[in-house]
Amino acid sequence: MKKKSLCIDFYEVEDLTELSGEDRELLEAAKEMTSNAYAPYSEFYVGSAILLENGKVVKGSNQENAAYPSGICAERVTIFSASAQYPDVVMKTIAVAARNPRQAMDYPISPCGSCRQVLLEFELKQKNPIKILLTGETGKVYIIEKAIDLTPISFSSDDLKRLLS
Ligand code: THU
Repeated sequence: MKKKSLCIDFYEVEDLTELSGEDRELLEAAKEMTSNAYAPYSEFYVGSAILLENGKVVKGSNQENAAYPSGICAERVTIFSASAQYPDVVMKTIAVAARNPRQAMDYPISPCGSCRQVLLEFELKQKNPIKILLTGETGKVYIIEKAIDLTPISFSSDDLKRLLS
């Protein structure tokens, strides 16, 4: 048996002036979108915004349902919307922000497993990295340079090839 290790790099940004104007604007858009969340059950409000290579910004928020599993996270709302509206345009960056009235969100939240899988799908499809910016309401920001970094030992269409051919 061989012990193997994985290591990912990411950036922690405390001084937001270190971010590009483009990234700061995208984070602001994600924060604003927390107000559009439909989250009467969790009362946990998540917003996200994707900058496309054509300069358009697609925005989304989490959408819940009385039948809980029918709800969907902000990230997937936004990614699917970007893909539906601009199927052939590269997604450059996604920003995600969270607001929780029960506690000060002064740290970033991180996408759930399903959202990581969906981010990976589109990163592989477009053959271009999707940069991920994560924030709370205030505090530091995390930057992950590509979706694959959040999905080590992942499952992808490559694994289906023998079935598909
Ligand atoms: N949620 C998101 O929208 N994105 C995340 O990254 C984490 C969780 C939503 C799903 C659900 O509506 C609520 O937050 C509580 O889990």
